[in-house]
Amino acid sequence: MEFKILFGSETGNSEGLASDAQKELTKQGVEAEVIDMQDMTVEKLKGYKNILIFTSTWGEGDPPGNAENFYKELQNSSEIDLSHLNYAVFAIGQSFYEHFCKTGKDFDEFLEKMGAKRIAPIELCDDDFDSKFPEWIENIKKQALSKI
Ligand SMILES: Cc1cc2nc3c(=O)[nH]c(=O)nc-3n(C[C@H](O)[C@H](O)[C@H](O)COP(=O)(O)O)c2cc1C
Repeated sequence: MEFKILFGSETGNSEGLASDAQKELTKQGVEAEVIDMQDMTVEKLKGYKNILIFTSTWGEGDPPGNAENFYKELQNSSEIDLSHLNYAVFAIGQSFYEHFCKTGKDFDEFLEKMGAKRIAPIELCDDDFDSKFPEWIENIKKQALSKI
């Protein structure tokens, strides 16, 4: 089993979590590759089996710069079938913004609409992302190991 770990990040918080997730999974013998969303396309997604998404939200509920193109492409690809794909989203933001964690919530919905299978509930984090991460990744690790 292999995970692709996608990150959307402006100042490095989500990127750091993606890298932590890779370390946690590879420690367990699960293959994992971190991918900058800048380099992502829906076409590539068709060839993946398991993805984790770490993303922040910027502006007024906008995706971080490196996630913009992929976000728009996914938003406009609802007719594409991703029923082969397992996914989970870890969203970070700040709850005093009107559109709290909107980008993460949107990715979660886009993928669901395209038939992908959510393997863990979306985690919505404020500045507490570091304390929420261990339990969330533990759940993913358990699922990964049960399927090896
Ligand atoms: C100018 C600005 C706009 C932001 N807009 C939002 C927002 O609309 N919704 C939200 O939940 N968080 C928002 N945030 C909070 C960031 O998502 C949060 O700081 C996050 O930890 C940044 O992670 P990153 O370094 O991976 O980009 C904003 C932060 C800044 C500085």
